[in-house]
Amino acid sequence: MSSSATAKESKAASAIRAAWQDDPDVARRYAIAERATRPFAAMMVQLARELAPPSLTHKEGDSVDVFDLGCGTGAVEAEVYGALGSGSGTDGVRILAGDVSAPMLSYLSARAADEGWAGVDVQTVDGTRLADAPALQGRAFDAVYVGFAIFMLPPAAPAQLAALLKPRGSLAVSSWAILPWFPLLAEAYARMHDGPPPPVQRDVWSAVTNGLPWHDKAFVRETLQQAGLEQVTVRQEKVSVDVGDADTVMGSMGFVLGILSQQWPEEKREAWLADAKRAFREVVVESERGEGEGMEWVFEGIVGVGVKPE
Ligand SMILES: C[S@@+](CC[C@H](N)C(=O)[O-])C[C@H]1O[C@@H](n2cnc3c(N)ncnc32)[C@H](O)[C@@H]1O
Repeated sequence: MSSSATAKESKAASAIRAAWQDDPDVARRYAIAERATRPFAAMMVQLARELAPPSLTHKEGDSVDVFDLGCGTGAVEAEVYGALGSGSGTDGVRILAGDVSAPMLSYLSARAADEGWAGVDVQTVDGTRLADAPALQGRAFDAVYVGFAIFMLPPAAPAQLAALLKPRGSLAVSSWAILPWFPLLAEAYARMHDGPPPPVQRDVWSAVTNGLPWHDKAFVRETLQQAGLEQVTVRQEKVSVDVGDADTVMGSMGFVLGILSQQWPEEKREAWLADAKRAFREVVVESERGEGEGMEWVFEGIVGVGVKPE
């Protein structure tokens, strides 16, 4: 890889991290995006349970140790507790919920207290520096989940996460197969006055990820296999999600546009970002079902699960 490609990637990686870390309001706005991620969290938990029963069920007196990396507002925690039901089924379940974003961690901490998820332990964990994470020292897990964050992590992350598993433990990841808002983005750019060139889906994907093809089912399968996992199972599914009205959509899309703006020339960035938000909102309003009625987007995601050999 050329040094300019490396420099571009690290700039993108730092823009992504900054976007999640620096906005104190990120968790409140992201809680709406959880409508799209939660069904895939449910698929990860179900598939992990089918392939590797220790992921959720434990012998009396034993603990079940779960690590959720890039936990966000707690989609995986909600599904793990949902699958266990209330009462003694949750005894012995310990979930290390790790993220780089302080606002996400404090949101999930409050949510866990409200919901009575007693086993959730919220900690700062940077997936780009797993080997140095104090919260992971000496730990081994029955299940590791990475919901819609694996594509922001370095290529070594899947193998490092597999190394954290107990024998017969499972690693589950999810990613997007398509970006449902891409056609709206293209339309918004077309409506801008002297704006950026038409977006290319591949470049947009690279800007919001580490550039690896996590949108490709075959890549997800190969990567989990190369991490030394067995019984690798990969599913691609569509879910239709009510994403709310234009203001709600812009809460999340303003954030995405902010990340994309890092690719634009510095002298144009501020003006283009303001105009892109205006144009995107205009396109969203036109595609709403009716005044303030909101809209449905079809999200297509990929879930991959593999099991560590005995
Ligand atoms: C798209 S959200 C997914 C949240 C949740 N897992 C879900 O499925 O709804 C991505 C999450 O990854 C976190 N994240 C981004 N880079 C990270 C990193 N290097 N290490 C740990 N978490 C990271 C973000 O702060 C954010 O909470």
